[in-house]
Amino acid sequence: MSEQQTPTVPPLDILILAAGLGTRMKSGLAKVLHKLGGRPIIAHVCRTAALLEPRRTYVIVGHQADEVQAAVEKELGGEQAGLVNQTEQRGTGDAVMAARDVLASTNSTVLILSGDVPLVRAETLRALIEKHLADKASCTILSVRLENPSGYGRVVRDEAGNFQKIVEQKDATEDERQIREINAGIYCFDNEKLFRALERVRPTNSQGEYYLTDVPGILRDEGEQVALYQHHDAREVSGVNTRAELAEFENLLRRGAVRRLMMDGGVTFIDPSHAYISVEAQVGPDCIIHPDVHIEGRSVIGEGCEIQQGSRITDSRLGNRVTVKDHCVIVDSEIADDCAVGPFAHLRMNARMEEGAVVGNFVEVKKSQIGRRTKSMHLTYLGDATIGEDTNIGAGTVTCNYDGKDKHPTMIGDHVRIGSDTMLVAPVSVGDGAVTAAGSVVTEDVPPNTLVAGVPARIKKKINEGETKAKK
Ligand code: UD1
Ligand code: CA
Repeated sequence: MSEQQTPTVPPLDILILAAGLGTRMKSGLAKVLHKLGGRPIIAHVCRTAALLEPRRTYVIVGHQADEVQAAVEKELGGEQAGLVNQTEQRGTGDAVMAARDVLASTNSTVLILSGDVPLVRAETLRALIEKHLADKASCTILSVRLENPSGYGRVVRDEAGNFQKIVEQKDATEDERQIREINAGIYCFDNEKLFRALERVRPTNSQGEYYLTDVPGILRDEGEQVALYQHHDAREVSGVNTRAELAEFENLLRRGAVRRLMMDGGVTFIDPSHAYISVEAQVGPDCIIHPDVHIEGRSVIGEGCEIQQGSRITDSRLGNRVTVKDHCVIVDSEIADDCAVGPFAHLRMNARMEEGAVVGNFVEVKKSQIGRRTKSMHLTYLGDATIGEDTNIGAGTVTCNYDGKDKHPTMIGDHVRIGSDTMLVAPVSVGDGAVTAAGSVVTEDVPPNTLVAGVPARIKKKINEGETKAKK
């Protein structure tokens, strides 16, 4: 064939059905908004759709449309996704019909996905599309054989083994219910033929719904080519219909992420069955992860870190050789190389620790920066504070950053020694090399190289420069 004769491949449009409530979840929350691996179910489907680089993706929304829209836009960005409202949920055929105005009358291949089938891989969908185009089919259905096909639409084949129709569980005869090959709810259609056949769908079935699954049968009866693409991995293309299934999927995702980190990433897990690592998180080689650790969101953990039992790290960045001792919570924070945190520490709202800093037992750090090698070991609250290098924050120190109305900053310099139980009433600053005595209530700025003490703290004496520097 010369180049001019090569038929042009029609563009790809993707339609994701996500308007249903999902009654079997027994939830006030629309099914596609339930979280899997820390992200709404619909977000997984959107991410996979984007990997196929379609011309356009449309999501059919209905139940909690605004929330579903927000989840879609968070994943895809506003421009990439078109939202179509299905005002009343009258079945999957009706859902596709809702997209007629935006989709029909252009030449394209329409890939239909279910918003509740989150684990399907882009590779599988590419193979489905390729087969659809190669067969020059009007419709290609992704099917799979299940041990227990209960609840799914069955694929009925004729004597020759060709597609005949899909019959829903609730409408199936006893014989049809024995069929193990099911419709995964993922299809490719020729755009024009899809919408033409959809007009002929009638809600004459046990559920009184417009079934999208009637369309392939209609096309076949019209003499159109309807193909089947039988996939080998049932798990990958199953839908989430109940909370029990959601938990199974969660487990599957989690085990996959942990396994990849062990096999390809050089990460040690003390007990892989009790590790909770988001698929988006990165963990560097030679890290040791203890039981019941959660690493969530887009966290990045450097090399050679040890994260001890029961710690939760969310959307945070850790450098190399960081130790997080038992039961810490680290959210939206950044920890540089060679730092140590915990046990029982809480870092949040852009807490930042520079190289070699230490935050210890029962210390909370909020929106604060802690300089290199600075230590805050015990029972302390540091909020809206900027602390220099080689400083020591004594046990029980509190930055009193809130006056009941507003938050105020505390500045602490380099080589400072904050005595135990110091209250720093913000806004306030403590100069380089200064010392506060135990129990001081610091209400005014402390000049560099000065010792203050008392309630409120008063200047007691000047200190020789360098006296507070740690002895090497
Ligand atoms: C559907 C198929 C079934 C298939 C199964 C695979 C039909 C009639 N049946 O059944 O053959 O085996 O998927 O998972 O299509 N939705 C809407 N609007 C509606 C109804 C549904 O947007 O009016 C959405 C739902 O939100 C969901 C998807 O379509 O994301 C599938 O709907 P669901 O009710 O879960 O269909 P199943 O009964 O699972
Ligand atoms: Ca379903």
